[in-house]
Amino acid sequence: MKLGRLNHIGVATPSIAESIAYYRDTMGATAITEPFAMPEQGVKVCFVDTPTDSGLNGTQIELIEPLDDGSPIHGFLAKNPLGGQHHVCFEVEDIGKAREWFEGKGKRILGPTRIGAHGTPIFFLHPKDMMGQLTEIMETPKGAAH
Ligand code: CO
Repeated sequence: MKLGRLNHIGVATPSIAESIAYYRDTMGATAITEPFAMPEQGVKVCFVDTPTDSGLNGTQIELIEPLDDGSPIHGFLAKNPLGGQHHVCFEVEDIGKAREWFEGKGKRILGPTRIGAHGTPIFFLHPKDMMGQLTEIMETPKGAAH
């Protein structure tokens, strides 16, 4: 397996609207996507772009708000009421090979490979097997900036 770029950092928030205002008004972000619900994941998400010299492929901040009390983010916010860093997401060229690689290393994978917020396959790795960091692996989008 070859590590790809850091696609995004997932940040849980009790209010996606307040977080958007923070990134825009305090951090000076100029490119923030419209929030959209992912009901099967129990979350609403949007992405804050960070620029690069080329204007493409900047690492993003993924803002994540729970849709309801059953959301996987709900417990995280109960422990961290202000929100905060929830996961990191690295790209790989081939999601199937990456899954085999981590399985071969005895790393626990949380659930099936599924389609993530960028429309490409993703899976999550257990933080206790990943030096304390909930880690998302996503297949690099083909022929797209993200
Ligand atoms: Co993510």
